[in-house]
Amino acid sequence: MKNFTSVHDVKDTVKLIRDAIKLKKDPWAHSALGKNKTLGLIFLNPSLRTRLSSQKAAQLLGMNAIVMNMDKEGWALEWTDGAVMNTNKTEHIKDAAMVLSTYCDIIGIRCFPTLTDREADYSEHVLKQLIKYSTVPVVSLESATLHPLQSLADGMSIFEKWNKPQKPKVVLSWAPHIKALPQAVANSFSEWMQQLDVDFTITHPKGYELAPAFTKGINIDYEQEKALRGADFVYVKNWSAYEPYGQTPAVEKDWLLSEQKMKATNSAYIMHCLPVRRNVELPDELLDGARSLIPLQAENRLFAATAVLKNMLENIKEIKPHHLQHA
Ligand code: CP
Repeated sequence: MKNFTSVHDVKDTVKLIRDAIKLKKDPWAHSALGKNKTLGLIFLNPSLRTRLSSQKAAQLLGMNAIVMNMDKEGWALEWTDGAVMNTNKTEHIKDAAMVLSTYCDIIGIRCFPTLTDREADYSEHVLKQLIKYSTVPVVSLESATLHPLQSLADGMSIFEKWNKPQKPKVVLSWAPHIKALPQAVANSFSEWMQQLDVDFTITHPKGYELAPAFTKGINIDYEQEKALRGADFVYVKNWSAYEPYGQTPAVEKDWLLSEQKMKATNSAYIMHCLPVRRNVELPDELLDGARSLIPLQAENRLFAATAVLKNMLENIKEIKPHHLQHA
């Protein structure tokens, strides 16, 4: 794949999931592949898992990783073409991407949504501007609307645990939170589940409908207890409203999952991408219980990143430094 920004960049989703699982058996098997190649990781927002799993994945593949916490250490970037840069924005993405492409063979970027400008967020303006001005492949480390590396790790976790002939019932269940969160994990999980042979349901309170582009044809149930019936996997996640955008409309019922509610499931596995606010999004009893897949999901982030970078490295042709490409 050239870039990795969503499930649609993947030719064969099931094969990528299986390849990522296979990497776990011999993590250093491809340590020569990335020799003399550099991964540049640009963070506009905080991260623990994505940052460290990407750096470690680069190590497994023999790459060098350089990380820039742009929000704290870099120049403030201007993302709009033709801007008159007489504000606090110091460097244009056009110039920054040229420099990054000169130093790096693959660039990763984390760029959260504004949650105020839906048009800009849902057009993936920031990610697309980086891709437009980079001359090397770009991997999303979570963008305004999607988190494909997380979804790949989630798909791996479901594959590893499910060994029955029938389709598993997978339920994405909205959870309470104290602040407005992006819709990216939920959108992305929905996209990936649609590519797999699973029976997929989303349950959330009225007012928390996801963007129609990500839920077309999917079973949506406003009754959590009904949705949980017979579930094999319950993915717990908060997100803010798509309409009105980025808001957190009041919720009447108690949406916090509990041991009691889980009795309606088929002894379902519990999933969450982390970070989690304990006893707000999920109770300790479920987070620490025997059915929690959360440690496996976190472990799989490493192999998801390795599988994606490996695939990209295999597709990279010799790239000349940016300044020579115009020679
Ligand atoms: N799940 C996830 O992306 O975690 P981080 O935000 O810590 O990277």
